[in-house]
Amino acid sequence: MKNKRKICIMGMGYIGLPTAALLANRDYQVHGVDINQHAIDTINRGEIHIVEPELDTFVRSAVQSGSLTANINPAESDIFMIAVPTPFHADKLNEVTNSPIPNVDYIVDATKKIAPYVRPGNLILLESTSPVGTTNMMADVLKMEGVDIDSVFIAHSPERVLPGHIMRELIENDRVVGGINNDSTEKAAEFYRTFVEGEVLETTVKTAEMTKLTENSFRDVNIAFANELSMLCDDMDIDVRELISLANRHPRVNVLNPGCGVGGHCISVDPWFIVDSANGKAKMIEQARRTNDYKADWVVEKVKNMTLQFERDNNKAPKVACMGLAFKPDIDDLRESPALHITQELNKKLDVIAVEPNIQDFQGLKLVHYDDACNSADILVFLVAHKQFKNLDIVNKQIFDTCGVIND
Ligand SMILES: NC(=O)c1ccc[n+]([C@@H]2O[C@H](COP(=O)([O-])OP(=O)(O)OC[C@H]3O[C@@H](n4cnc5c(N)ncnc54)[C@H](O)[C@@H]3O)[C@@H](O)[C@H]2O)c1
Repeated sequence: MKNKRKICIMGMGYIGLPTAALLANRDYQVHGVDINQHAIDTINRGEIHIVEPELDTFVRSAVQSGSLTANINPAESDIFMIAVPTPFHADKLNEVTNSPIPNVDYIVDATKKIAPYVRPGNLILLESTSPVGTTNMMADVLKMEGVDIDSVFIAHSPERVLPGHIMRELIENDRVVGGINNDSTEKAAEFYRTFVEGEVLETTVKTAEMTKLTENSFRDVNIAFANELSMLCDDMDIDVRELISLANRHPRVNVLNPGCGVGGHCISVDPWFIVDSANGKAKMIEQARRTNDYKADWVVEKVKNMTLQFERDNNKAPKVACMGLAFKPDIDDLRESPALHITQELNKKLDVIAVEPNIQDFQGLKLVHYDDACNSADILVFLVAHKQFKNLDIVNKQIFDTCGVIND
């Protein structure tokens, strides 16, 4: 039997698990590691604890063939990959910009955990989206933990897959790879070329780190433009979606769609990594972040005003249905979701029911089926353009469609 290359992947979440399952089906022996025992047990049964199309098939076949196991501790491997969360600190703000500070504690922890298993010649990859300088910081941590970092290869390759299309994009997307030295860049690129069909583009480690932050900031700034337009148009009584479709008939204009804000673990977080390190110089990036966050609060105020008007007209308080909780259509991911934030804010004072076809329940919220919501609510607030919301039978209801799902 062929000697398979061993890879130890730290973090069995939305990035780590699909990567593990893909590689396990591609001649790698994968040792997946997580701190979450439920995730470990689920994966070892050949099942999945997150929603992602096709992932279940990949995990089942990888576990059944013995190429993927999930564990609490790392093990010796040829390659180590770190795919743990990079949120921001909940309780600290940057003193210059009053903005969130990146939290790389999970990376530090995972790095310390792999250190005893690292051997000369190993390749250590950081896939987590990281502030510029994190890969070198990881090398410093390994050094402090006694690893001879001149004998190993250390690189960053940011992941840029789209939830909902992860299994395809892991293979098809172009990849940017930057090592702490040229040899590390080459080794890492060589590894990615074993399964990536897109181009593997080599650069410096800092450029690789900044590439991912740039991609997400670009999206954030452009969505902020659309969200700002949507609020201006509301004041001017202009249909923002008609406006955008007309403006986009210009051959060099492509305004994005407004929504109820911006969420997710990437676009609503990563631009702060640039702001945090820019000493007040990332003005546009910072303003875009604040505009997109403000959009969600603006929606809350708009809905509250609708309910007041309803009460005046009908002599009773309305039932409000918040349609969608996820941060984008057709997924179950609630991280940094503006739809969830809006629903929780409204739920504090109003009679709120919530609909999220991709999850069963959520503490503190009354989740109902979308048909029930359409029947029983007085005001329907569409927050996420889930496919289930596209052809609903809605009769005689007030509608606030923040995501353009009704007339799409
Ligand atoms: N989800 C995406 O679409 C996406 C896309 C591109 C990049 N990223 C980036 O990839 C990274 C991982 O994101 P994700 O969505 O997979 O996160 P996730 O929360 O889904 O998964 C991370 C996993 O790491 C585990 N973990 C935490 N600390 C650990 C440790 N010390 N050792 C082992 N496991 C540990 C957690 O229990 C969790 O299961 C983040 O930096 C994120 O910004 C995510």
